[in-house]
Amino acid sequence: MSLALTHQKVVPLSPWQQWRYFSEPMGMSEWIRKRYGNFVPVHFQGKEYVAIVTAEGARQVFSADPNGYEVFWKESFAGLMGDESVWVQIGKKHRIERQLFAPAVHANHFRPHGETIRGIARAHLKSSWTPGQNIRAIDTTLAISLDIIMRLVFGAESADVMREGHRLLNASTSLIHPLIVFFPAFQRSWNPVWRRYAKARDEMYEWVDRLLVERRTRVERTGDVLDMLMNTRDENGDPVDNDYIHTELNSILSAGHETTGTALAWTLYELGHHPEVMAKLRVELESFGSEPDPERILTLPYLNAVCNETIRLHPILAECARVPMQSMEILGRTIPAGQALVVSIAGIHHDSTLYPEPGKFIPERFLERKYNAYEFLPFGGGHRRCMGAGLAQYSMRIAIAQMALYWDFETAGIDQDVRCNIAMGPKHGVRLHIKARRNPNWSKHRLSHN
Ligand code: HEM
Repeated sequence: MSLALTHQKVVPLSPWQQWRYFSEPMGMSEWIRKRYGNFVPVHFQGKEYVAIVTAEGARQVFSADPNGYEVFWKESFAGLMGDESVWVQIGKKHRIERQLFAPAVHANHFRPHGETIRGIARAHLKSSWTPGQNIRAIDTTLAISLDIIMRLVFGAESADVMREGHRLLNASTSLIHPLIVFFPAFQRSWNPVWRRYAKARDEMYEWVDRLLVERRTRVERTGDVLDMLMNTRDENGDPVDNDYIHTELNSILSAGHETTGTALAWTLYELGHHPEVMAKLRVELESFGSEPDPERILTLPYLNAVCNETIRLHPILAECARVPMQSMEILGRTIPAGQALVVSIAGIHHDSTLYPEPGKFIPERFLERKYNAYEFLPFGGGHRRCMGAGLAQYSMRIAIAQMALYWDFETAGIDQDVRCNIAMGPKHGVRLHIKARRNPNWSKHRLSHN
């Protein structure tokens, strides 16, 4: 136990509590706060770390010198994503990586694709939702988010090429099992779980290599993310190699696909559960006419509140962590070098002093109060804040607008946040009953805005 923390007892988690932390960190962080307060040294998996469950703690962690931090569970993420990944770099290399990565997820790159994103959502809903049926919403929303990210990354490749890419990416992301995330010692060839993931990942890389061979014979530039990566130069001005491209693609595809698809599924869950919220949202959406410019969709306050409240209540990543390389002060206490600081997004999002009745879905709270970056932090914060936040929020709003306007549905069962791999997700995949396709009531509201 660290000397600096002797006045606060280290809380050893029992095996049962460890299991609960893996599977239901949301319930666990509430339990931790209720029982031990806002600053909790926890002993877990043979290591000590500090759970930060207040906005002020998050502010102090995120605003400290970024050069003073190592990556949490570096070995694990390096094994999954590759040693060069933005996820595992620190200091100057991390800044360079983010700069190289930035154009791919910059608004200038994805905003012109608003119509494409709407088209993708429309097509998937039409092909997979049938009135009168019960469905698992996450199957549709993951297919939508996969299609969006693949389109932005690989542009207009032929349908056959894309079909193969979808299959391979789906296979590799679905094989990221918590065992190989939380226990890097299990990332070994003797472990069948790891072998299956590594095989699926390598098959995806081989598919990318075939694409690269073909792309390098083309004269014209395609302007998609793969094209940007192929034209990236390293610090010495040399073209980057295929290994680098694999790692970058793995980082962007795995970070962007499941997270956005899960957030979309939870939004459907809450809308299907709260007809009064759905009614209010439709009034707002219908006031903008049948094909509103995607840019205008972004400005809708109630849609924004619905999306924010969803990822507050159901954070997709329950926590984000930093490991100080030197001792530092947080909340007036000394944290020794090497002791991980785990900012509990789930804990802060369920803090009743910030969010009264935190377990309830109340979008209006985002209209009544402005939350700062440490109170509402679904995308983490500081120097490692999510690089795809803008893209995720843009895609979510366009897809949800399409679903709410053109479909009638209700929740067909209670769901629950559980850890799927690194991320959280709905235990039952959000079961919905699709009632009917609907005709939006444009005429009622159109005049007030157009
Ligand atoms: C609703 C969707 C998403 C959520 C909730 C989410 C959340 C997060 C969180 C919490 C982090 C950790 C931040 C930290 O440590 O402070 C993160 C990191 C990251 N995210 Fe996202 N993310 C989403 C979508 C995306 C998308 C669409 C992309 C890219 C296309 C993306 C790319 C990344 C990358 C590259 C990082 C690592 C940043 C770094 O270490 O410097 N994410 N995300």
